[in-house]
Order: sequence, then C-alpha cells, then structure tokens
Amino acid sequence: MTAPVIDIRDLSTRFGEVWIHRHLNLQVEQGDVVALVGGSGSGKTTLLRQIIGLLHPTLGDIRLFGEPLFGGGVHREQALRRRFGVLFQHGALFSAFNVFDNVAFPLRELGCFDEAMIHDLVMLKLSMVELLPRHARLMPAELSGGMVKRVALARALALEPELLLLDEPTAGLDPDRSDSFVRLVRQLDKELGLTVVLVTHDLDTLAALESRVAVLAEQHILALGSIEEIMAVDHPFIRNFFLSDRSRRALETH
Ligand SMILES: Nc1ncnc2c1ncn2[C@@H]1O[C@H](COP(=O)(O)OP(=O)(O)O)[C@@H](O)[C@H]1O
Ligand SMILES: [Mg+2]
Repeated sequence: MTAPVIDIRDLSTRFGEVWIHRHLNLQVEQGDVVALVGGSGSGKTTLLRQIIGLLHPTLGDIRLFGEPLFGGGVHREQALRRRFGVLFQHGALFSAFNVFDNVAFPLRELGCFDEAMIHDLVMLKLSMVELLPRHARLMPAELSGGMVKRVALARALALEPELLLLDEPTAGLDPDRSDSFVRLVRQLDKELGLTVVLVTHDLDTLAALESRVAVLAEQHILALGSIEEIMAVDHPFIRNFFLSDRSRRALETH
C-alpha cells in the first residue's frame, strides 16, 4: 500500500494564547480531491501553510508522500517541495512580469532548462489552463480576475506537481468563471491524476467539484466524506453551511 499523499497526525497550532487547531488528523490519498471548508478564521489557510512547510505546527506531525516535511536536510526538502504546486488565497502574480515570465518563474528558478525548453513548457501549461499563446505577452494588470487565476494555476502546475493546493481559488470570480475554473481543476485531476486540496466556502464550487469534503470546525477535522454524508452530520456549522436557502439552491442546480 502506498502512503497517503498528505498524512497529518495529531496536529495542534497555537498563536499566542489561542489554540487554532487541536488534535487535528487528516489523510488524503493519491488522486483524491478534497474540499476543505470551515468558518472564517477556523485555520484553513494556516493548515495549508503547514502542509507546504511554511509554518511549523506547535505539536504533531505532517508527512507528504510518506516523508516527514522537516528534518530531512535541505536537498530532500527541496525535492519534496517540487512535488506540490500552490495557489494562494491572494496569490497575486508578479505584477512586473508578463504572463509568460510569471509561469516561467519556477522553471527558471530550478535552473535545469534552457530558454527554448522553458518556452515550450510555458506554452504547454498555458494551453492546459485554456489560455492562448497571445495571452503570454499580457501584463497581470491587463487580465480579468478569471484569467489571473488561470495564470496562477499554470504557474502552480509548472513543475508538474503531484499535489495541488488551492486556497479559495474561486473567491471573487463571478459564477460562470467560477464554474469554468472548477471544471478545469476536475479535468486536470482526471488527466494528470493529481491529488487536490482546495479551500473554499463557496457551495457552488463544492457542488461542481463533486469532491470529498473535509469540515474544519472546533479546531479539528470534524467530518470527512461526500457532500451527502457531510450533510447528514448534525452540527451547527454544517447546518448553517449546507442547509441555508442559498446553499440548497447551489446544490440543486448542480
Ligand atoms: N501568523 C499568525 N500569527 C498569529 N495569528 C495568526 C497567524 N496566522 C493566522 N492567525 C490567526 O489564526 C486564525 C486562523 O487564520 P486562517 O488560517 O487564516 O483562517 P481561515 O483561512 O480559515 O480563514 C485567525 O484568527 C488568524 O487571525
Ligand atoms: Mg483563509
């Protein structure tokens, strides 16, 4: 049996006097798409930052691909880092770089491709996110919100990660753009066999994604399962989140 892609055991996080996570456990298997939901300030972004090693948990253990995140030496940590791509919540593009150079950034940083190779790889990633070659020369300020997300996704995919982490990727997009972004993520998941963890509090995104849902509440993963399984859990956060009129409409239309 292969190790889970993400294996979080008994993780606790304290900021000052406040415990954000307590005894949190989460396992994500290869090829899974998991939507992480939870109230504002429940610690979703913090958890993503911990998964990618930007922040040490106060207590507990995180393994990626069966390997501990920390303590393996710089080279091993770098090798591990290459296996995931991230799209941050306010994951701005480098505003002084055009689309091409934004996507090329992680490839150039790696230092093992020549410019001809980088050109081909960037164009391939742009086509994967359904952008056209002519978009490569545009500056971030010239892009719509939906295009910014696509370019950021292309950049996250640049190094062909096995794991993709997306923090509220559809926040601020109108429903059409949001749907088409979700469709794109699902398609990439199918074609590339990616494992995806996506933070969202958008019911439309959740319904369109047809992923498993992990609920972060009361400082830990309170429930993990299909939307139907989660909706059957009797808990105030879940009732509020899934059973409001607006939520019902979102779930019915997908
Ligand atoms: N580096 C930090 N130092 C202190 N407090 C933080 C830090 N990062 C986040 N927090 C606090 O932790 C809580 C969870 O934050 P966050 O993970 O961003 O929540 P979410 O993404 O679920 O909205 C919030 O109350 C936030 O203010
Ligand atoms: Mg957040």
